[in-house]
Amino acid sequence: MLTNKIALVTGAGSGIGEAVSLLLARNGARVLLTDVDIEGANSVLARIEKEGGMARVVKCDVSHAKDVEHAVAVAVDTWGQLDIAVNNAGISGEQQPLGSYSLESWDKVIAVNLSGVFYGLRYQIPAMLKSGGGSIVNMASILGAAGFASSGAYVAAKHGVVGLTKNAALEYATQGIRVNAVGPGFIKTPLLDDNLGSDELEQIASLHPMQRLGAAEEVAELVLWLASDRASFATGAYYPVDGGYLAQ
Ligand code: NAI
Repeated sequence: MLTNKIALVTGAGSGIGEAVSLLLARNGARVLLTDVDIEGANSVLARIEKEGGMARVVKCDVSHAKDVEHAVAVAVDTWGQLDIAVNNAGISGEQQPLGSYSLESWDKVIAVNLSGVFYGLRYQIPAMLKSGGGSIVNMASILGAAGFASSGAYVAAKHGVVGLTKNAALEYATQGIRVNAVGPGFIKTPLLDDNLGSDELEQIASLHPMQRLGAAEEVAELVLWLASDRASFATGAYYPVDGGYLAQ
């Protein structure tokens, strides 16, 4: 499905980014695994290579524009072009109502979850234009379409990601670049496990009509479709994958 395609994934060392990277590689893409956590990215590299896939690791903090520019340059220098980018890296941030939300957590969440996606677009788009186009998938969240008490910075950043996605899609629709956003419901990854206890996880699972959390692999399937040429008429859209959460 992705033979000869070159892909870049941010936050590739864990959770959804890991599942996406494995699935892209299984479908024939060569994948640049980027993350601040090199150990995590290297373990994903080992899994991909064990399965006979091709990948490479580059350290990249998406909140640093220079790192993002460098990662795109490595993909192009190594494999000649960039066809697919998945701007997935993200953090949850502090859980506080806005009247007491710390300025530090606000700045950090916006830097990683929103500016990080802008930096991705800023450097991925020129690289894709050089080889005639590509597909960009931005990892938003159900919280890109609905609020969630005590997660103000995260909600604002993810709504921003949906807006950036629409603009990028409009600006490059006739130049072969498709840009879409994915809106996962709550997915069982270290992002949730490291921040919530088992009672909280159960309560959050119950918010989904399917009465369970999602799996990273269930998000990866949607990303794979959007990344591939099978989604050739899909651009500028936001696709929930949320066990029915947003239907309520
Ligand atoms: P995770 O914590 O398992 O993985 C996130 C990865 O991003 C980690 O490898 C981490 O090292 C990396 N990362 C963190 N800050 C970074 C930075 N500044 N630069 C580069 N890499 C960085 O989290 P998960 O759950 O896989 O989340 C991935 C994306 O999916 C995030 O954007 C998150 O907001 C989004 N998402 C997650 C949901 C969930 O319930 N787990 C629900 C909806 C969206």
